[in-house]
Amino acid sequence: MAVLYINEKQKEGHINAEIYGHFSEHLGRCIYEGLYVGENSDIPNVNGMRKDVVDALKEMQIPVLRWPGGCFADEYHWKDGIGPKESRKKMVNTHWGGVVEDNSFGTHEFFELCEQLGCKTYVNGNVGSGTVQEMSEWVEYMTFDGVSPMADMRKANGHEKPWKVDFFGVGNENWGCGGNMTPEYYGNLYRRYQTYVRQYSNDAPIRKVCCGPNSSDYFWTEGVLKTCFANPQPENAHGYMDALSLHYYTVPNEWDHKGSATEFDDKEWYRTLAKALYMEELINRHGAIMDQYDPDKKIGLYVDEWGCWFDVEPGTNPGFLYQQNSMRDALVAGATLNIFNKHCDRVKMACIAQLVNVLQSVILTEGPKMILTPTYHVFHMYKHHQNADLLHSYLEGNKTVGVDEENQVPLLNESVSIDADGVIHVTVNNLSVSESAPVEIAFMELKPSEVKASILTGTMHAHNTFDEPEQVKETAYTDFEIAGDRIKFTAPKCSVISFTIR
Ligand code: AHR
Repeated sequence: MAVLYINEKQKEGHINAEIYGHFSEHLGRCIYEGLYVGENSDIPNVNGMRKDVVDALKEMQIPVLRWPGGCFADEYHWKDGIGPKESRKKMVNTHWGGVVEDNSFGTHEFFELCEQLGCKTYVNGNVGSGTVQEMSEWVEYMTFDGVSPMADMRKANGHEKPWKVDFFGVGNENWGCGGNMTPEYYGNLYRRYQTYVRQYSNDAPIRKVCCGPNSSDYFWTEGVLKTCFANPQPENAHGYMDALSLHYYTVPNEWDHKGSATEFDDKEWYRTLAKALYMEELINRHGAIMDQYDPDKKIGLYVDEWGCWFDVEPGTNPGFLYQQNSMRDALVAGATLNIFNKHCDRVKMACIAQLVNVLQSVILTEGPKMILTPTYHVFHMYKHHQNADLLHSYLEGNKTVGVDEENQVPLLNESVSIDADGVIHVTVNNLSVSESAPVEIAFMELKPSEVKASILTGTMHAHNTFDEPEQVKETAYTDFEIAGDRIKFTAPKCSVISFTIR
């Protein structure tokens, strides 16, 4: 038996809502079909945005959305995506399937979508193939409230008032698809480009995101930070940045044969989870480099691309990255979000890739049909952690499980928070494919008077399809007992459980 000790008096940091963020790129059927169908579509929509998808995302409490990429961001020229749709330029999406991008979803549409979702906006600029002027004008177009060439153009295009850009990424993966740069070269470009990301409104400052590393590229983190912290001016004492990004994908095998989303054995299950849990080491080690430059942790680590990356579904366009989503994805999501919560002193945002129909999506669509994936349910079950305070928690008697020595994972994984109303939220995962796990939750002093819970569980391959959309879904969980200051339960194999405790 494991005991989950919770010290309800020991708050360990604030869990930014943005840790539960999402990413949408002009890739495959994420934007087009997944989110945007156009006003003339038979699929119910509001100003072109799919109503079913928007409603589901609001229910999940999506806090922030990153757009337009990804690799696409560094070949995106924003002026192609404004003005009358019929005269917008068409381009080839060279990164993703070589399809025609007609730019019918652009800046105005992105802000319309975020307004409907009620979420914050994270716009990613183009450093790889764009100019400083282009980036600076985009910021002026979006955020300047006055008379200026770009603000006037926005007004002429039908939007009188500026929008709020909460976060702005200065390039994406500039070590790779965003220009194949060296850390020093990018660091200098970052200093230069970010200078012209002007703060036009004191009430709504834009938080600037510097392109950080891929996975364990500590050389990049060190090189970029060293460059950005060289001779900083007093007002830029934080290396000119509010955040540094980190990208890490969970690939069960190798990049040239990643593995199927729904067909895998126990060994691959544990290997996938072990690789997902590697996120903790990445946060610790990149965080340790950041600590050298920013000991007060003023710069956030934004894990703005993460999730499972499998082979595409058979018969689909390899450039569209469309994959199914099973209980394995649910456990990857649950365990990773628990890690982010526990590192909320440094991890201030995370965006799972990608929102709809691409990689580890929370929603899949097929024509007018929509399904919620197991990953959706995890985000829904974890939403109470958003803007809560992390509580100290510790699992005693936890053991490891796995089929080989290299890929052992902890049987249980958890995080705990307390919200503004004093309600405690516990999310606990059983990572085993075969073993249920008896657990007791023990508090310092609290005697729980009211406990509610929900569970997501199924066989390891369980997933939802358009014919059977509710194979995996969140259900009420009542199989626990309150005994004094303890809550006793047995977490079924392969499960995610969320408790609300008063
Ligand atoms: O999410 C798919 C791609 O993965 C993104 O475009 C890129 O940033 C990353 O390599």
